[in-house]
Amino acid sequence: MTKRQNAIEVDNLVKVYQTKNRGPLRAVDGISFSVRQGEIFGLLGPNGAGKSTTIKILTTLVLPTSGSARILGHDVVTQPLEVRRQICVVVQENAIELYLSVRNNFRTFGKFHGLSTREVELRCDRVSELFGLREHLGEKGSDLSGGLKRRVQVAKMFLIHKPIVFLDEATTGMDTFNKRATVAAIKEESRKGRTVILTTHMLDEAEELCASLAIVNHGKVIAGGSTDQVKSLGLKLLYLTLSFDKVPERTLKAIQRANPVKIEVRGATVEVTVREEDVALKILNTAKRLGSLKQFEITSASLEDAFVEMIDKKAGAP
Ligand SMILES: Nc1ncnc2c1ncn2[C@@H]1O[C@H](COP(=O)(O)OP(=O)(O)OP(=O)(O)O)[C@@H](O)[C@H]1O
Ligand SMILES: [Mg+2]
Repeated sequence: MTKRQNAIEVDNLVKVYQTKNRGPLRAVDGISFSVRQGEIFGLLGPNGAGKSTTIKILTTLVLPTSGSARILGHDVVTQPLEVRRQICVVVQENAIELYLSVRNNFRTFGKFHGLSTREVELRCDRVSELFGLREHLGEKGSDLSGGLKRRVQVAKMFLIHKPIVFLDEATTGMDTFNKRATVAAIKEESRKGRTVILTTHMLDEAEELCASLAIVNHGKVIAGGSTDQVKSLGLKLLYLTLSFDKVPERTLKAIQRANPVKIEVRGATVEVTVREEDVALKILNTAKRLGSLKQFEITSASLEDAFVEMIDKKAGAP
């Protein structure tokens, strides 16, 4: 048996857009990662991070400036047709046939991709069940809410037999109920061996769905690995709030010497972010010893905060 290859290999990918106002813009700035077959992989990052551009390169919609990417062994630049045979993609912008019913949206999409009438009907039933769309099959595309349109669009991708599915912001605009149905369906499809690459800026969604992640900011991967590994990078952050009548200068200096991630002075309160509990305790003890500490609080940063911190920190780095 041959060795199981990675579904996706991305090596030092760069995309420079020529913009009128901002000059050359490095939307993707040396991104590398790989995705195993059957895995759900997340590209996570804030607006403008370069997630969609990366997806567009991998799905042959945009050419990279340099670097390379292979989909099931096929190069996205030199073998775009082979790549397209292996993939389907939900782009960030909504695209469903507004004049057709949900059922006919599925039918036309399935037919277009070469499914027989019988196969289309079977799969249409299965997918509408999976995505909770059964009661909407007769509704016209234009009459659906934004979140439901999105759900139909995502469901269409699972109608056809492509091994690799790209979902750019699949759940954008969905309410919690909608989102839950979609997330469950994506998980179910991955269990059957499909590889899914998705983008999101919601950490909780990435956490729930993805086995591995790359956190992207300013076109670079700032953290990557298994979801647990990435989470633990941020989870160690602690916030320490110290309140004084007036912040003593020597206390501030001592805190700075402890090398925290961040210090912010707001009036008579000092907010310190640290990575380790030991450092938090050391700072607290120093503040007590040097006097005039009135109150303190130590809290753990939420995942969301940790994510923002991670991005801020890297953005500030040279
Ligand atoms: N066709 C284009 N021409 C010029 N600049 C572009 C083009 N497409 C994207 N950009 C710029 O490239 C950067 C990355 O954009 P991209 O759409 O990849 O980000 P994103 O991570 O998907 O963001 P979002 O979360 O908002 O979808 C942004 O600064 C964007 O303005
Ligand atoms: Mg995007």
